[in-house]
Amino acid sequence: MNSIIELRKEHMRIEQILVRLEEFLDREKLDVEKIRKTFSELFAYIKVHEEKEDEIFEEVSEFSKEMEESLAEINAVHQIIKGHVKVLKEALVSDDVNYIRVALENDGRMFFAKLREHMHFEEKVFDSVLFMNNSKSEKKKTF
Ligand SMILES: [Fe+2]
Ligand SMILES: [Fe+2]
Repeated sequence: MNSIIELRKEHMRIEQILVRLEEFLDREKLDVEKIRKTFSELFAYIKVHEEKEDEIFEEVSEFSKEMEESLAEINAVHQIIKGHVKVLKEALVSDDVNYIRVALENDGRMFFAKLREHMHFEEKVFDSVLFMNNSKSEKKKTF
């Protein structure tokens, strides 16, 4: 239960970083160093976050067959997210600011949308997990 609450808090943190990145992208002149730093922060944060999720969802899948489909979907999106991160990392090392601008306007904004959609989906799964957990006897509560 604590771990699910922690994951929710981490989603809020991820959202804050996304908003910060959008603000950077909305500026006429890109502060590439700040953008690189913030993306690295986001990538590192997401990596640890997803590792925690993988662990928790694996435990969930052991006690709930009904969730199998949703968990498979989450797993698939984690792989897609890894692909986005790779593409963005490659773009961010460029020393051509215009190239970075175009990459971020396209791949970057697409990544933000994917991440938000994914977090939204996961939150619905969190609700189901918490609901299932509450239906169990006190002794058996896991998440
Ligand atoms: Fe996730
Ligand atoms: Fe998540």
